Amino acid sequence: MTITVCAVTPGFAAEVGDVDLSRPIDDADFAAIKDAFWKYAVLIFPEQHLTPAQHLAFSAKFGPVEKERTLDPKATPSRLTGEFADISNLAADGKIWGETSRQRMYKAGNKLWHTDSSFKRLPSLCSLLYSRSIAPLGGHTEFADQRAAYDALSDAMKNRLHGLIVEHWIVHSRRRSGFTEFNEEEMARLPPVPQALVRTIPQTGRKSLYVASHAGRVFGMPDAEGRALIDELIAHVTRREFVYTHRWRPNELVMWDNRCTMHRGTDYDDLRWIRDMQRVTISDIANSCEQEGIAVAA
Ligand code: OGA
Ligand code: MN
Repeated sequence: MTITVCAVTPGFAAEVGDVDLSRPIDDADFAAIKDAFWKYAVLIFPEQHLTPAQHLAFSAKFGPVEKERTLDPKATPSRLTGEFADISNLAADGKIWGETSRQRMYKAGNKLWHTDSSFKRLPSLCSLLYSRSIAPLGGHTEFADQRAAYDALSDAMKNRLHGLIVEHWIVHSRRRSGFTEFNEEEMARLPPVPQALVRTIPQTGRKSLYVASHAGRVFGMPDAEGRALIDELIAHVTRREFVYTHRWRPNELVMWDNRCTMHRGTDYDDLRWIRDMQRVTISDIANSCEQEGIAVAA
């Protein structure tokens, strides 16, 4: 059986059918999935019935799995550990989280445009999010194409951005969403890191912006000017023409390329409905500055 790839938007999101991700994938099918992934950057696999182990096994074919969770598990016990990021609204006891719980306050940041793990020195290549149960209303995920957004910039802007380095820090995005209670352990483990503002995707040679709400300062620019540039670029990338809105069905796996997309969760009544989503995150091969050959002072 060979997989089928059906474009959902002309060049950004596609649905993949005729594949059962709960079973080992043969080499030809996996090569076709990778080709589609580099071409589109968001792939949707409907009607997949996956155990956590099967979700993990498919994800791990793309590279090393991130194992460390961002929040200190002592301060914020989680239902899921190790390789799985809990994108649900459930507390460690499996019940809907409390209105003022630390998890809820922290995860409000997922409603800002971001790309996963750009605040880590070794950022993420891709994320694979699986829906176990969804909210009946809302709770969509929006994706923005940072490659198409780069292509649409003027030559003058492309020249201005070339070679710039941006500071990404989890504290920047959480300040924006109103979460400031990082503890000492988290602050020490999650220092600000440099990332290239423009990056090249090796598999296609396409250039992409690499901005996110985790971005705060631009190296070599006054803070306010750097911040204004980042805000301007985020507004540009998230123009409607670069955005795909994913409306979830249960038992669906969606994977996206964190190097060249942003995403955000949309609202739903999270104190009423259970939305159980679990994510596996794959690491990139190196820091983005390193990949671009941009020297960063230690
Ligand atoms: C994520 C994320 C948004 C959502 O899984 O990384 O940001 O819609 N999700 O849950
Ligand atoms: Mn995310």
